[in-house]
Amino acid sequence: MLSDSYGRVATDLRVSLTDRCNLRCAYCMPAEGLDWLPKPELLTDDEVVRLIRIGVERLGIREVRFTGGEPLLRRGLAAIVAETARLHPRPELSITTNGIGLARLAGPLREAGLDRVNVSLDTLRPESFRRLTRRDRLDDVLAGMAAAAAAGLTPVKVNSVLMRGINDGEARDLLRFCLERGYELRFIEQMPLDAQHGWRRANMVTADEIGRELEQEFALKPEDPDARGSAPAEAFLIDGGPARVGVIGSVTRPFCGACDRVRLTADGQVRNCLFAREESDLRDALRAGASDDELAARWRRAVAGKLPGHGINDPAFLQPDRPMSAIGG
Ligand code: 5AD
Ligand code: SF4
Repeated sequence: MLSDSYGRVATDLRVSLTDRCNLRCAYCMPAEGLDWLPKPELLTDDEVVRLIRIGVERLGIREVRFTGGEPLLRRGLAAIVAETARLHPRPELSITTNGIGLARLAGPLREAGLDRVNVSLDTLRPESFRRLTRRDRLDDVLAGMAAAAAAGLTPVKVNSVLMRGINDGEARDLLRFCLERGYELRFIEQMPLDAQHGWRRANMVTADEIGRELEQEFALKPEDPDARGSAPAEAFLIDGGPARVGVIGSVTRPFCGACDRVRLTADGQVRNCLFAREESDLRDALRAGASDDELAARWRRAVAGKLPGHGINDPAFLQPDRPMSAIGG
């Protein structure tokens, strides 16, 4: 098992398949993009699958989520999903995507064994979408979400980050839109993970603010907190249920104590936290001929040293060197 010194056990593996992206969300990347990882540094499809297999067969991983950058840009995605779906015990398989290209790929990914998708959608207004993501692709995202629902990649979950002065007036519109289509919406507080280090606490739209805004139109009742488990979203039943909305207070209501995640970057580094300042390399060991046993032992050590929390609210907090786009959500 992947346990740490605070008694947490990681069972949910987030695998970043590329650091590239076809959007430039303001809370993530600068307009000009970033220096992408050179191809030889990326794990090959076979290497990714081998590490996932070790995670599943030897280390208790029960859930695998593919992220990026934008995971749909990874050519081998469907093949990697198909290989992962053949593992025993078969893990739950999902992706976090910006939705661009999903209209075409939802069917093939479903056939490959994908169970669910999370689509990032912060605004329903084309003008705000262009401003926030610096690309004019709102229609592609909406088409992607519809295709995912039609392909049975359900429930389609939607992630929204609100930014003050850009889309913070859209919380209720987003919720209405999702309710009408049966999508499950979760708002995520903006975290200090952008490459440009532009995060400011005062600009963050907090979970409390989001809740107050939604309550102007919807009756929100907290779901049984015992049901939260390790899920980061605080779930609320809307107008008595069964529809729900989630609010992820990553900064103001940290859930580190219940965290069950571990991350693998596209270049083969284990990160025990989004905000970790240290990584453990599996790629060089793997390429030097390490056995499954040795790789599993390295991975266990990487998780054993996990810190109790992300420390964002600590005055000495330092943002990790690696930006969100190269870690995965
Ligand atoms: N803060 C909060 N959420 C973020 N995401 C990307 N960057 C940030 C950030 N700085 C979200 C994306 C996507 C998921 C991977 O994380 O919108 O939904
Ligand atoms: Fe791309 Fe996601 Fe970053 Fe937006 S947040 S630029 S969709 S990786």
